[in-house]
Amino acid sequence: MISTRSKTTRLTTNRSQDFTNTHNYSGGPGVLPESVLQKTQEAIRQAPGTDISLLGISHRSAWFRNVLDEAEANIRTLLNVPYTYHILFLQGGGTMQFSMVPMNMLKERTQCADYITTGYWSEKAVAEAEKEGAVNQAWNGCHEGFHRLPAPSELKLSNHAAYLHYVSNETVEGLQFPFLPGLPHVPRVCDMSSDFLSKPFDITNYSLVYAHAQKNLGPAGVTIAIVHEDVLRNAPDKLPSIMDYRLFAEHRSNFNTPPVFAIYTVNLVTRWLLDEIGGLVNMSLINSAKAAVVYASIDLSDGFYRGRASCDSRSQMNASFTLPNEKLTTAFLHHACMAGFVGLEGHRSVGGIRASLYNGLTLEAAEDLAEFMNWFRSEYGCYRHSEVRNG
Ligand SMILES: Cc1ncc(COP(=O)(O)O)c(C=O)c1O
Repeated sequence: MISTRSKTTRLTTNRSQDFTNTHNYSGGPGVLPESVLQKTQEAIRQAPGTDISLLGISHRSAWFRNVLDEAEANIRTLLNVPYTYHILFLQGGGTMQFSMVPMNMLKERTQCADYITTGYWSEKAVAEAEKEGAVNQAWNGCHEGFHRLPAPSELKLSNHAAYLHYVSNETVEGLQFPFLPGLPHVPRVCDMSSDFLSKPFDITNYSLVYAHAQKNLGPAGVTIAIVHEDVLRNAPDKLPSIMDYRLFAEHRSNFNTPPVFAIYTVNLVTRWLLDEIGGLVNMSLINSAKAAVVYASIDLSDGFYRGRASCDSRSQMNASFTLPNEKLTTAFLHHACMAGFVGLEGHRSVGGIRASLYNGLTLEAAEDLAEFMNWFRSEYGCYRHSEVRNG
């Protein structure tokens, strides 16, 4: 851990020529492991076992078929996914899933779908689902400003819903579900875009899970969906091909041209999780340690930093917090940038600061940020939220 003294040195050194110590806390696309970046760079020049660049390899080649198969096998191993589930590599991001899920699971049904509205991204999911069928908002935290998640007893669930949709980790507000919501007989669908592969979970609790890659698993361009075979069996006819999970399952994710580069990188991240981290239990321990040091700096700041999320809803992936006023927020970001800490601006819809602590961010980077936060408070800590507003 870098001492406060050396951190101060970081602050006073001109780092513009030296990015080697830069820490990236971006909300997404997020930081990737150094060893993965290294291998990706090499493959862009020459893909292993070939004479050509990764960027020019045919998606119909045996080489790429092996990449797809290995990525699928690695995800199966990491999450212990049974063969009753298809693992699909799709495009269109999390946003396309907001439509693809209700098109496959709600359209032409007499039932409604239950949605739990907990923040910016679940609101977007609801808006798209309403275009395809009837939606019941089982809970909506909007009137409270999305500062917390519901307790299980607050959910107004429909007994015969086509499915229940929720977002396991609200990336903007920094809220992460500490429990499994829903009724045992209603299919669960979850947007895990910002916490997929950050910890173990039991896939058999779900009918469908989706996650875009650009937080924990790779670059933007590929979205992973794990879909139970019953979802495919019950999907309506005549969906647009690109929105039909069945076609991607039949073609083993090679229906139209898949994002070869992004899938290659995801495969490297799955290898890194298995071989270097040692699986998702270990990854989860590292992620918990990272979150603990950053939240400790908030909690021990005597009110200088204020967490957006209530303590029982806090995200291990995105620590969202505010400073007493805008001037201090600007000063914080300025000093952070000078010290080599980037990507800390809060989402444009909420402002403040957001430290994203995805899989690729090292424990050292989280400790360095915590130490920087403590240093900044020691310099500017005379201000409190209650004392100064927008001054
Ligand atoms: C939880 C969650 N869902 C969905 C999305 C939208 O994803 P995309 O930009 O890939 O469409 C995001 C974006 O950050 C997100 O964080």
